[in-house]
Amino acid sequence: MKFFVDTADIGEIRRALAWGILDGVTTNPSLVAKTGRRFEDVKREILALCHGPVSLEVTTEDEAEMIAQGKALAAEGPQVVVKLPLTRAGIAACKALTDLGIKTNVTLCFSANQAILAAKAGATYVSPFVGRLDDISMDGMALIEDIVQIYRNYGFTTQVLVASVRNPVHVLQAARIGADVCTVPYGILDSLFNHPLTDSGNAKFMQDWKKVPE
Ligand code: E4P
Repeated sequence: MKFFVDTADIGEIRRALAWGILDGVTTNPSLVAKTGRRFEDVKREILALCHGPVSLEVTTEDEAEMIAQGKALAAEGPQVVVKLPLTRAGIAACKALTDLGIKTNVTLCFSANQAILAAKAGATYVSPFVGRLDDISMDGMALIEDIVQIYRNYGFTTQVLVASVRNPVHVLQAARIGADVCTVPYGILDSLFNHPLTDSGNAKFMQDWKKVPE
């Protein structure tokens, strides 16, 4: 399973890259707004840092404008993935950009039928939002199971990118199901390292090493 970090914060991306386990980055307009910085600056810095897939989202609801923005974003670097909403316009724009050879990530997916539409439009990735479904008492990870199964039934090549991840158990469940990618907020990615037995075991090794004669 590939790990993307779900952030527009340059410091977080830099730190996650330094671990050597990061495959890419996903952003969205809310994450960019949270930085308080200009999109142009944030985008330039992310693309300079990360050579794996970087999802950059369109900021219009109009199909023609989505296609124009998608083309412009894709021209910024080979790693750019154009993020489009799962709307009628977004799916049509996905098909048009796919036909031009541009990579796409269809976001705001909340049902298996929507995921079928994304696959039919040739999306490179589909982003089902598990946390937001859990928030309304639905089973986000059950949606991932459904999509993985349906894509397998038909040999769809669209990659299932688990999004709206809220905790480390979501990451574990995504891996168990066999999702292609999990995009994880920095804090949760960081927490994957933690285990009390690793800490105590390492402390003991360090302590015992001091007893070894030189
Ligand atoms: C996906 O790519 C989105 O950026 C993100 O995962 C949304 O998560 P949220 O529900 O925490 O906003």
